[in-house]
Amino acid sequence: MTDLERTRERTPVPKDWTYAPAPEARDIVRIEKRYGHYVGGDWIEPSETYTTISPASEEPLAEVGQASVAEVARAVDAARNAFGNGWSEISPSERAKYLFRIARILQERSREFAVLESLNGGKPIRESRDVDVPLSAAHFFYYAGWADKLEYAFPNRRPRPIGVAGQIIPWNFPLLMLAWKIAPALAAGNTVVLKPAETTPLSALLFCDVLRQAELPPGVVNIVTGDGRTGAAIVEADGVDKVAFTGSTEVGKAIQRELAGTGKRLTLELGGKAANIIFDDAALDQAVEGIVNGIYFNQGHVCCAGSRLLVQESIYEPVVEKLKRRLATLRVGDPLDKNTDVGAINSKQQLEKIQELVASGEEEGAEIYQPPCRLPEKGYWFAPTVFTNVAQSYRIAQEEIFGPVLSILTFRTPEEAVEKANNTPYGLSAGVWTEKGSRILWMAERLRAGVVWANTYNRFDPSSPFGGYKESGFGREGGRHGLEPYLELE
Ligand code: NAI
Ligand code: MG
Repeated sequence: MTDLERTRERTPVPKDWTYAPAPEARDIVRIEKRYGHYVGGDWIEPSETYTTISPASEEPLAEVGQASVAEVARAVDAARNAFGNGWSEISPSERAKYLFRIARILQERSREFAVLESLNGGKPIRESRDVDVPLSAAHFFYYAGWADKLEYAFPNRRPRPIGVAGQIIPWNFPLLMLAWKIAPALAAGNTVVLKPAETTPLSALLFCDVLRQAELPPGVVNIVTGDGRTGAAIVEADGVDKVAFTGSTEVGKAIQRELAGTGKRLTLELGGKAANIIFDDAALDQAVEGIVNGIYFNQGHVCCAGSRLLVQESIYEPVVEKLKRRLATLRVGDPLDKNTDVGAINSKQQLEKIQELVASGEEEGAEIYQPPCRLPEKGYWFAPTVFTNVAQSYRIAQEEIFGPVLSILTFRTPEEAVEKANNTPYGLSAGVWTEKGSRILWMAERLRAGVVWANTYNRFDPSSPFGGYKESGFGREGGRHGLEPYLELE
């Protein structure tokens, strides 16, 4: 008898091959009942609070502050003082030390952050654990490396910090967007007032404990929570020298209007409606994985999501068939389950927006497909969705849905693919799938998008600049380019 046969006798044969739940332990992270604002290295008691919840269960998680104009002013003062009292002048290698510490502590506490991010935001633990948290740490490591090399990054241009950066971030990648904002600002010698989105404040509040552990001087980073009113107060605050915003195009435009003529500097990272383009010579199975990763990653709450699929006509049928088959294997459900592929929609408001746009797609005449899947009763959920028979004029082909909804269009020639891909007010990203290197370059030259992925999608690296054209905003984050908005360059 072989060893295998012998052990088999003693091993119970599973009767059912469906997955058993594999929940991540929640108690690794301690959530306070109530949080204040983190100002000047201390917690200040909030004048007003609201309840933040888990979108997967609607269960309340904590009370957090809704910062008033006066509370924002205190945070800006703390940042100004810290800027004037030494942070902008300490030796750059000293500054780097703090950033390295923050990066290391994030790595050490990665499980805590992953669980909290999934609880408060609804994203699958597999993604927060493998993408959000490691990339956040990587961002701090990357910019730590630049802190004492700014003169080499911008030779003969005497780089100097700007002052106080007011930073407003969205709810789709709460910790990662915080890292994208704070790491380059500090590396360049600025101080910060940051506001997380109202639905996802908890990882930013836990980050304050990382700052304490790293012994960052008080006031260098201040965190205030609240909704758009708090955001507007940061934009308008007198002591803010630079505003960095990631969020909707609508709010981005309002901020730009508000700041026009004030001399405050601004970068905007706004929406997108990216084309993911599949040519008939592409490796189809890989392309299908890329389509899935492009639109169902993070429930489609991704500004650079590949939400418009452009398929070359000759391979339309096999691609749609493979895609539908693949969709049936996606597991939608508990964000804290390690087997989950698609988690909860971030908020009721976002769910309603997705529902409204999907209804418009059906009304306008597109054909909808959703794989059979049982959605949990409580919380905010939306099944992975594919639309075929989509015309370019439909709202689902024009507007950012920011949900797990894909619109499929076709093309015949590369020229037509470019024309359709660029037929959007946005210009953040695009994907090209083809075996031909020359075609990749030909396409990348013509696509009006800040990032073009070739034979992959939704790949991020701190050394690679990210940002948009047209209504997707301006300014770059990541890479050496990401330092520029935080520096005075003579
Ligand atoms: P939003 O733009 O209102 O919120 C983003 C951030 O801006 C939040 O922190 C919010 O509190 C803040 N904010 C809101 N109004 C503000 C104001 N007047 N001044 C300063 N800050 C303000 O986005 P929302 O309403 O959460 O989502 C609406 C749509 O925007 C989504 O459906 C999606 O299409 C798009 N969006 C795009 C994002 C991206 O990464 N490009 C991120 C979030 C949303
Ligand atoms: Mg809004």
